[in-house]
Amino acid sequence: MIEEKLFIAGQWVAAAARLPVEDPSTGETIGTLAAGKAGDIDAAVGAAQDAFSGAWGAATAAERGRVLAKIGKAVETQADMLAELEARDVGKPLKQARADALALARYLEFYAGAADKLHGETIPYLAGYTVYTLREPHGVTGHIIPWNYPMQIIGRSVVGALAAGNAAVVKPAEEASLTALAFARIADEAGLPAGALNIVTGLGEEAGAALAGHPGVHHISFTGSTAVGALIQAAAGRNAVPVTLELGGKSPQIVFADADLDRALPFLVNAGIQNAGQTCSASSRLLLERPIYDQLLDRLAARYRALKVGAARDDLDVGPLISAAQKKRVESYIARGRGDGLAVVAEGAIASNAPSGGHFLPPTLFAGVAPDHVLAQDEIFGPVQVAIPFDSEEEAIRIANGTEYGLVAGIWTRDGSRALRLSRAVRAGQVFVNNYGAGGGVELPFGGTGRSGHGREKGFEALYAFTRLKTVAAFHG
Ligand code: NAI
Ligand code: MG
Repeated sequence: MIEEKLFIAGQWVAAAARLPVEDPSTGETIGTLAAGKAGDIDAAVGAAQDAFSGAWGAATAAERGRVLAKIGKAVETQADMLAELEARDVGKPLKQARADALALARYLEFYAGAADKLHGETIPYLAGYTVYTLREPHGVTGHIIPWNYPMQIIGRSVVGALAAGNAAVVKPAEEASLTALAFARIADEAGLPAGALNIVTGLGEEAGAALAGHPGVHHISFTGSTAVGALIQAAAGRNAVPVTLELGGKSPQIVFADADLDRALPFLVNAGIQNAGQTCSASSRLLLERPIYDQLLDRLAARYRALKVGAARDDLDVGPLISAAQKKRVESYIARGRGDGLAVVAEGAIASNAPSGGHFLPPTLFAGVAPDHVLAQDEIFGPVQVAIPFDSEEEAIRIANGTEYGLVAGIWTRDGSRALRLSRAVRAGQVFVNNYGAGGGVELPFGGTGRSGHGREKGFEALYAFTRLKTVAAFHG
């Protein structure tokens, strides 16, 4: 049985209460986590402040980069161990879990290299003045992580904050905390100074709320639901602390009749079913131009029928959902679609050897869905896609922009001018032309508009959010 503790000030610390760790592929309890409370968050914030005022704060940018690079190498070397842990904890097929571990290593490589390339500017000003800007770390950053991509989100959030010189307090999701703790172990062994990274596992309403509202925290990044994001922003607002919110979406892929359908086909489906659809940037709406609607739907259906669902260790196309609660939530949407008479075009199949206690659900493709139907509006966060026909470019834009979200959009066309026009017209933080996701590159700034949140993570852009700018105007005559 796995028995985990909290990681505070470089020490493994016990907590009074414990939370179960479930394997979503089997429904079995495989261990327990420490349930951190407000007092543990206090201790972690204090440890981060000490590190910031101490060894970590004194490290040069190049030294920070060097230790992050060392952690990156260690993550890469231990990618199989991390993948197996994540596969058990989240239920994601092993191949997808391994890709997450390698993405974390790549974030460490990227931000290690960026650490000593982040700098201010000089500004031409009045005669007799020299004016320049300094990019200073905030101090203590708080990171509230969801369960769907723990390693990738630690990579894009925590690693960027560390590279910029902050000390971090991380609250992983109660459903999936194991790789965050493994990451702390690796970072510790690689020589990250004590207190630069602290991990407090526990419930959102307890440890998470305590972190979001802590007066000693100077920046919060949160990935998760829009409802909790609003709570985080309100809590941070009471301390006048900046936040980065990444809150998911209802991202469309718009397919025009002139598109390369052979190329588009795998992207259209994979973007909906990867990680069992539990992906903030999942493409849950497929907008298909009328002349190719029927033909493309047939091809999508054939792909759906070939999808196999099973235990993470069997490494099929789709694993279980994270929990019984999430499965119920997704099932209720599917039932609602059927109840409203929407056509299920095709479903995937649950493998005969899938454990009976696992939270499996066949991927489900709905067709002919009205753009304002709840299935085309709500973030379902499961392996469910809806196909929507459209008749003109204007209509496609109207439908694409017709939700409260705005995270990602895909545009499939061979008409270059149309691709450029639509890239401007769609409301999204990332637009992909004739692809979707661009391989998830860590270099590409990522974030939303509207109820998808605000602020950008990934790429160099994230480093600006993890620093604050100071302007120095010196008069020398
Ligand atoms: P959630 O927003 O409750 O959980 C995300 C993180 O926030 C977890 O670490 C959780 O412990 C923490 N948290 C929860 N309540 C908190 C509070 N009051 N104060 C501070 N932290 C708190 O998301 P949940 O319940 O796991 O999933 C519900 C839905 O949210 C999903 O079906 C999906 O639609 C959306 N979601 C979106 C994600 C994304 O990647 N954008 C990730 C996870 C969920
Ligand atoms: Mg929750």
